[in-house]
Order: sequence, then C-alpha cells, then structure tokens
Amino acid sequence: MGKMDDLIFQELRSERARKAVPDGFPALAEIPGGRYTRRDFFDLEMARVFRRSWVLAGHISELPKSGSYKVFAKLPSAPILIVRGRDGQVRAFYNTCRHRGAPVVKDHAGRCNVLRCQYHSWAYDFDGRLVQVPDEHEFPNLDRAARGLIPVRCELLHGLIFVNQDEAAPDLLEAVGPLAEEWGDLGLADGQVDYRFSRRVSCNWKCGLDAFQEVYHINTLHPQTVGATLVHSVAAMSLLPRGHSRMCVQLKTVDIDEVPDGGWPDGEIYRRSSVAHTLWPNMVVPWGAGSGRFILFWPIGPGECEIEVMGVGPAWGEGGLPADRDLANTRFDGVLMEDIENLAAIQASLESGAFTGMMLGYQERRLYWAHEEIDRAIGVDAVPSELRVPPVLGRFVEAPASRRPHAATRGAA
Ligand code: FES
Ligand SMILES: [Fe+2]
Repeated sequence: MGKMDDLIFQELRSERARKAVPDGFPALAEIPGGRYTRRDFFDLEMARVFRRSWVLAGHISELPKSGSYKVFAKLPSAPILIVRGRDGQVRAFYNTCRHRGAPVVKDHAGRCNVLRCQYHSWAYDFDGRLVQVPDEHEFPNLDRAARGLIPVRCELLHGLIFVNQDEAAPDLLEAVGPLAEEWGDLGLADGQVDYRFSRRVSCNWKCGLDAFQEVYHINTLHPQTVGATLVHSVAAMSLLPRGHSRMCVQLKTVDIDEVPDGGWPDGEIYRRSSVAHTLWPNMVVPWGAGSGRFILFWPIGPGECEIEVMGVGPAWGEGGLPADRDLANTRFDGVLMEDIENLAAIQASLESGAFTGMMLGYQERRLYWAHEEIDRAIGVDAVPSELRVPPVLGRFVEAPASRRPHAATRGAA
C-alpha cells in the first residue's frame, strides 16, 4: 500500500468522527453568481482558460491505424483535426485548409490515405505537409513548405489524447501533475472506449462540473442510486496543484479497513472507496465498475454547455461489451440523468436576479479550489472585482511526491 493510500484511509477514518470543520480551515467567501451568468466572465474563461489549457480530445483506440483521424470540435473557436501518422505519432492541426479555409475533412472521424480537402482537393500528409495542389502552375506564389496545416499542440497521457491551443502552456505532464502518475498503473493506454454520452444542457458549464465535485447532494438527488451506495459525509478530499483534485468516498458495502477482491481499477483506494478525480478545468473522472468515465463540461454560452462522457476500461476485443459492463453503463446513465435533469432549473434560478452568491461548505471545497484556479488562469486583475474569488486554499494542497500513490510501492520494488 502506498503512503498516499495510507493517508487517504486515515482521513476517511477521521472523517467518520468529524463533527466540525477542522481547526484552521478558512471560511469560504461567497462565489459570485455572475461567474455563472455573465457574458464578460464567460468570454474571459474562453480566452484564458479554454484556449490555454490541456483538454481531453479522445483516446488512442479511436485512432488505431496510420491515417485514422477524428475531428475535435468541442471548443467553438477551434475545430481541430487529430490524425495518426505513418510513424504512429498522433498529431493535431486546425481543420482549416490553407487554400481558402474550408474544413479539410468534413466527417467527424474516419481513415484516409491522405488528407484531401473536400473543396478543391489540396492534399496534406498526416504530418501536415502540403503535398498536392491541383493545377499548381496557377499559383506562382505558392510555397508549399510554408502552406502546411497549422499545428495544434497534442500530447498523450496513458492513451488519452489532449490538445492545447497555447504555444506557451507547460507540457501536458507538468500541467496534469500528480494525476499523471496516479493514472499510470490503470492500463488506460491499452483500454477501449466502452461508453459514450453527449447532451446539450441549458446551464453554465460549471453548474455541471460542480455537481460532480461533491457528494453532499447524493441523499437528496440520488436516494435510490449513489445515495444508497456511498456514505456522503465520509470522504477524503485532496486539493492538487493547478485546480485538480481527488475525492475518495466511503462505500456503504465495504468497510474502510476491508480490501475486497478484484475489480477494475485494481488499486487499494479504488477497491476500498469510490474514487473520482477532477482534472481542471473541465473534466471529472469517477472510477469503478470496470470503467473510468471521463465526464467533460464544454462551454457553449454563459447559460449553455455540452456534457460529454467517454468511458474507457480494459479492452474486451471483438463483439459487444461484456454484460456486466453494459449493465454498469446503464446504471451510470441513470445517475447521470438524475444530475442533468436538475441543471437547467439551477441555471434559471441563478439568472433570476434573486440569487446573491453561492455559499460552499467544507465538503464542497473542491468547487472553491476550481474557482480559485480560474481566477489565476484569467489573471486576477482581469477578473471584474465583484466576481473575484479570494484565494485561501493554496496552503491545503496535498504535499507532492511523498503522497502520490504507487510512488512508494514503485520505489520499493
Ligand atoms: S479550400 Fe481546401 S482546397 Fe480549396
Ligand atoms: Fe450527482
């Protein structure tokens, strides 16, 4: 058992007895409602959070061969073409032809021999080079070498494909921080996409995100489902650098000190508690029942978002998904809909004019942490003063390295 696991179980044990907010934990300021409703704040988020952050764009199993491609168009500013090269490398480019700007590919996914623009057939190789121009003699100024597809940063982490439009952003590994190692032993790179969901919802993207960063609501909103399986008040929550976080919640059926057999992911914290991670800015990953479900909240407008889910679990090969995992997905659908059906009404309420600001409790501190990071990303001086969230949680960030799971086990091996 890793040292971090020990600390998580210690925290879970002490959470059982906790009757007050721990000494020294600060009162959290109200989260101004305008952060969920105002166009100016939304525009700042788009420009300074989403255009500058690593966001999940897919899984390597979607691009099995050279020439396999998909179009990632969840951010309205940037339809991005992701393609696997002859060298096996996955690369991303703006899906914008350098002739007259048409989308190079129109399908959302496929496989081709060359990326041939569907307008006048300019053709690009999988590394973005312009390789063919019909009637090239008609373009005396054309310098092919300078007219390749415009690249977008694209990096893989355990088979997960991330893109980032910001040339100056840190590398993916640095941005992801400790979660990169925590996800390292789960076999994600060899996994297979086993679940997909997408729904446009009339709420701010953070309304959706918030609902998946705490379990305070589960007895009220999910009495028959999650509420019946988790002990909401017994959760170890860790704030990680850069707005990320982790939550391990006690299961009703498993004592904290028991280690049940098997299952996936196969790690002690996953077997003995219900684990979910937030990868800031817009992804929550609950683990269990054979799958990691990457829930993404894509902004569309101040009061509109898309909730997308990609499930990745161990590969099962050809044919249909095994029945137990199919059933787990159906159950997950049910829970997801319980959350989603609640969201549009929350947004309407936030926009009503009666709402002053959100009051977050200790169990909801991960939400506050994500807000703090948004202000850091935007640059606090650029955030309208009445919308700022005072940064108070920095000193509660989980200690690095020593508390990373598996670090200790690996070192010992
Ligand atoms: S716009 Fe692509 S070939 Fe003309
Ligand atoms: Fe929920």
